[in-house]
Amino acid sequence: SQIISAPLTLALSKGRIFDETKPFLAEVGIAVDGDPETSRRLILPTTQPNLRVIVVRATDVPTYVQYGAADFGVAGADVLLEHGGEGLYQPIDLKIANCRISVAAPEDFDYANAVRQGARLRVATKYLQTAREHFAAKGVHVDLIKLYGSMELAPLVGLADAIVDLVSSGSTLRANRLVEVEQIKSISSRLIVNQAALKLKRAALQPLLDAFERVAN
Ligand code: PRP
Repeated sequence: SQIISAPLTLALSKGRIFDETKPFLAEVGIAVDGDPETSRRLILPTTQPNLRVIVVRATDVPTYVQYGAADFGVAGADVLLEHGGEGLYQPIDLKIANCRISVAAPEDFDYANAVRQGARLRVATKYLQTAREHFAAKGVHVDLIKLYGSMELAPLVGLADAIVDLVSSGSTLRANRLVEVEQIKSISSRLIVNQAALKLKRAALQPLLDAFERVAN
């Protein structure tokens, strides 16, 4: 049956966010037709003619929603902190893709001592904004080096003293002989909605927002 009264586009990233968003859609009987793990298609239909899913990079989800290319999306709090949240309504913490954003350093690097001594640290991260705020609040002097992935490598080859990255199980840190030295923030994923769509397509969005809310709580 047709439960969505106007065409809607939902932005998701492949991997955990795509997989863990499926149960929210299933709550209202919707299934996505296709899987980004096995297909290169970037626009996926669903069992509701008025709902399609677009598959974008995790860091791009807020951008698609901000400009209204997607009406709504699912993005990690880490990504939203960097984006700034402009033009986005963030109604629901979905409590999925839970992890934390932390400072990590090599096992044999005495991070606490270096900080105590007022050393200037080189820190590699893709989270420049979050890292800058964290170290400024602690009064730690840092030179930040922007990376786009595999941050764990940076201290192992002398690019940085420490990293700021997501930690979930901790196995990536362990595999690279790094230890978490400070936890910055708990991270989970949020439903984000384009502010204009929320006004203009309220009737279409509401049943979905309600379903996401029910499953999250
Ligand atoms: C994230 C993060 C860490 C890893 C942490 O990377 O950047 O590398 O997961 O998870 P763990 O503590 O369970 O090992 P992800 O695999 O999401 O890919 P990314 O490099 O694209 O962020």
